[in-house]
Amino acid sequence: MSIEHEAFESVDLIVWSGTGNTRHVAERIAGTAGTLGASARVLSSIPADDARPIGRRLLGFLAPTHGFTAPWPLWKAALMTPGVRGTDVFVLVTRGGTRVGRKLFSGFEGTATCLPAAILAIRGARIRGVGAIDMPLNWTVIHPAFGPESVSAIVSRGDTQTDAFATRILGGQAVFGGLPQLALGLLILPLSLGYMLIARLMLAKMFFADENCTSCGTCEKICPQGAVRLRGAAGRPYWTFHCQNCMRCMSNCPTEAIQGSQSWMLLYIWLSALPFGAVAAAFVLDALNVPAGFARGLVEGLSGYAWTVATVWLGYTLLWMGLLVPGVRFALSRATFTRFYRRYRGPTDSGYSTQAE
Ligand SMILES: Cc1cc2nc3c(=O)[nH]c(=O)nc-3n(C[C@H](O)[C@H](O)[C@H](O)COP(=O)(O)O)c2cc1C
Repeated sequence: MSIEHEAFESVDLIVWSGTGNTRHVAERIAGTAGTLGASARVLSSIPADDARPIGRRLLGFLAPTHGFTAPWPLWKAALMTPGVRGTDVFVLVTRGGTRVGRKLFSGFEGTATCLPAAILAIRGARIRGVGAIDMPLNWTVIHPAFGPESVSAIVSRGDTQTDAFATRILGGQAVFGGLPQLALGLLILPLSLGYMLIARLMLAKMFFADENCTSCGTCEKICPQGAVRLRGAAGRPYWTFHCQNCMRCMSNCPTEAIQGSQSWMLLYIWLSALPFGAVAAAFVLDALNVPAGFARGLVEGLSGYAWTVATVWLGYTLLWMGLLVPGVRFALSRATFTRFYRRYRGPTDSGYSTQAE
């Protein structure tokens, strides 16, 4: 028995990408859409409602996986994109594929596709599919990037996965993958929350520019979140809490001056583990005679969180000011492994191009 599927006439792909993997996937899907006779757009920001094209429309939401879930920009797109009610949509993420010897391994997307898809469903969208594509792991503040041969092997498998997903979804079929990953992702949701609310902030404040920085402003220009600012008379880059650790700045600095300070990360972890926030809250709550219970626990928890954010901010301010002093900058620049890490230059090894957007 054959099933007839109605193909789509227009395809809008809303993409958030750090080092270009997800953008590469989106462009490939747009290419397949073109060969199937659909008009396709790759959009790097949420489109206005009045920009909706005519015809049967498919809307795709694409982003990398961060911390076994979706990064904030994907949550935002799922919540804010206008005109999703009654529209066919899919959520597709890329995840960190790896290669050991000749063997390729998949990344793990956890809840990255299904939870944003659930938001879209609640908003009245018709979910046509969710999926994950394995592209090179790009977390180069944690590990050195793969060499060109491994990158090309991983991308080649990712392209095959992308084409299979695109052909089916653009042809009107429903595509649902990754349900076991969702089950495990839900189990480790507290870890993902910890990543989104705490680790992400600490990781953002690991970045600094070493003595090779020429203050050229590339990092500020290409940051997709506007999270890097050149500050002070010397114009040195400063990372704000808007940073999503997407690695675009570190991967594309022309002098490879951007490093991640592992020693400062340890300092943040140690400082935030000190229970000052909760102790201060308990002191005030005792003075106000607030009894034990949910409200008291909530206030203590929020104070603990505020303490973490404040210590990370303060710690980073110290790091940034230390970097203005030549001798201290030299010492800090050497207290990191990222000086020895190969940078990830994207799926085609060509670096990030602002013309892509
Ligand atoms: C901060 C950060 C967190 C990541 N977390 C995960 C993860 O939980 N699971 C996974 O499979 N890959 C993870 N990755 C790898 C990326 O999802 C993957 O390399 C993706 O293709 C990058 O896409 P982009 O170039 O469009 O940003 C992570 C990468 C970064 C930088």
